Amino acid sequence: MRLTAFNGSPRGATGNTARMLEQFLAGFNSVPGNSAEARFLCRTREMDEHLKAYAQSERVLLAFPLYVDSMPAAVKAFIEELEPFCGREGNPPLLFLVHSGFPEASHSRPVERYLAKLAKRLGCVNKGTIIKPGSEGLRHLPEDMNRKLFGRLRELGCVFGSEDRLEARIVKQLAKPERFNPVQMAVFAAMRLLGITNRYWDAMLRKNNAYEKRFDRPYAEDADKRPGP
Ligand SMILES: Cc1cc2nc3c(=O)[nH]c(=O)nc-3n(C[C@H](O)[C@H](O)[C@H](O)COP(=O)(O)O)c2cc1C
Repeated sequence: MRLTAFNGSPRGATGNTARMLEQFLAGFNSVPGNSAEARFLCRTREMDEHLKAYAQSERVLLAFPLYVDSMPAAVKAFIEELEPFCGREGNPPLLFLVHSGFPEASHSRPVERYLAKLAKRLGCVNKGTIIKPGSEGLRHLPEDMNRKLFGRLRELGCVFGSEDRLEARIVKQLAKPERFNPVQMAVFAAMRLLGITNRYWDAMLRKNNAYEKRFDRPYAEDADKRPGP
């Protein structure tokens, strides 16, 4: 089986998507006769090559992080370029990997429904969506702390590579928790009160000189009348 994996992260090869894909593809490639190619959608100048790869693949995996409750711009741009393929005979079956910074899988469910609709519009088989909440820390964690997650992704890739299906048991395990239970909610609320939950993201905003602008609403109707920070 020939698989093309499109990585939709703006961080490209340095992001969490790349780390997870690496594991899935290792499992997939462990099956004799399989080959996989990873492509980076943030390389927008390669759009023609992306489309050619899509058209020639036997299976396509589209993987991306949740961005503002949906997908990064490069993923949307790629999907829009697929319009001429709608209803084409022989479109490759699709599978998806969506992961999020927020620690509950429920945040990714709306985009999962969008992806099911996308597969339908393209007229291709939807092999399913892998959802992994709470992914932001991945690339900072030592290998050991990711062992369980990476093992599951490798197994998922291996089963897919040999049986052409996503193993429901593993997909279910990866998508935990769907929602925080009351105890987790209480812990999270306490962390929020202590300012712990925002610390990492505030540091990112400062690093990108965007901290002072964090409440900006540039598209609000009265944006021009609003006082600055
Ligand atoms: C601009 C931006 C917007 C984001 N929006 C969301 C969001 O709406 N929901 C969410 O759960 N995570 C959100 N995240 C977190 C990412 O999904 C998360 O950090 C992910 O692990 C990034 O993957 P990557 O390293 O492959 O890009 C956002 C991150 C950034 C930088």
